[in-house]
Amino acid sequence: MKIFLDTADIEEIRIAARWGVLDGVTTNPSLFAKTSGKTYDEVLVEICGITSGPVSAEVVAEDVEGMLTEGRHFAKLAPNIVVKVPMSEEGLEAIYRLAEEGIKTNCTLIFTANQGLLAAKAGASLLSPFVGRLDDINQDGMDVIRELVGIVEMHDLDSEVLAASIRHPRHMTEAALLGAHVATTPFKVLQMMVHHPLTDKGIKTFREDWEKARQAADSNAKAAANRHN
Ligand code: G3P
Repeated sequence: MKIFLDTADIEEIRIAARWGVLDGVTTNPSLFAKTSGKTYDEVLVEICGITSGPVSAEVVAEDVEGMLTEGRHFAKLAPNIVVKVPMSEEGLEAIYRLAEEGIKTNCTLIFTANQGLLAAKAGASLLSPFVGRLDDINQDGMDVIRELVGIVEMHDLDSEVLAASIRHPRHMTEAALLGAHVATTPFKVLQMMVHHPLTDKGIKTFREDWEKARQAADSNAKAAANRHN
């Protein structure tokens, strides 16, 4: 499973890239709103300079022509830009027309397998079910991942299922076990995936034991040197 970071924070993206685990980035207007001082275009160009993986840039227009204009603009910023388009009647038309122009799209705000099926038929490269927001309303978000992965594989559709709205590390494990092609995660959850109390405790114990053994060896060596003098 590919791992994308769901953020517009440049420092978080740099850290994940240094760890060697970053396959791409997804952004949206809410994530961009948390950054300051730069335009969305500037942020996108900077992200595309860090990763050569897909970088999703979300349109805000709700009409087809507006989505096409924004999508074509984003696609010119860098070769790895993927235009994020919301699931809607207009969104489907925009996805279809952008695909015809060779522009990749990520259909966002998917909450049912049927929506994902339609986005795949229209030509979206990435299908983004929001698992966390479904969990929030007492539905199992992972059901959509399971159904959509099954549909994509059974019908050999040319789209990848991207588990989005990830809230905790268990979501990442479940998405991977269900065969999601991609999961996009906040940096905080990526950090949580690295750590385990027993791992962190083990590192501390090894360091302390090493220090004790080193001090014992040093004092033995000093005692031996003193005996020779
Ligand atoms: O990728 C979509 C994601 O950003 C939505 O996450 O936590 O706002 O539901 P959330």
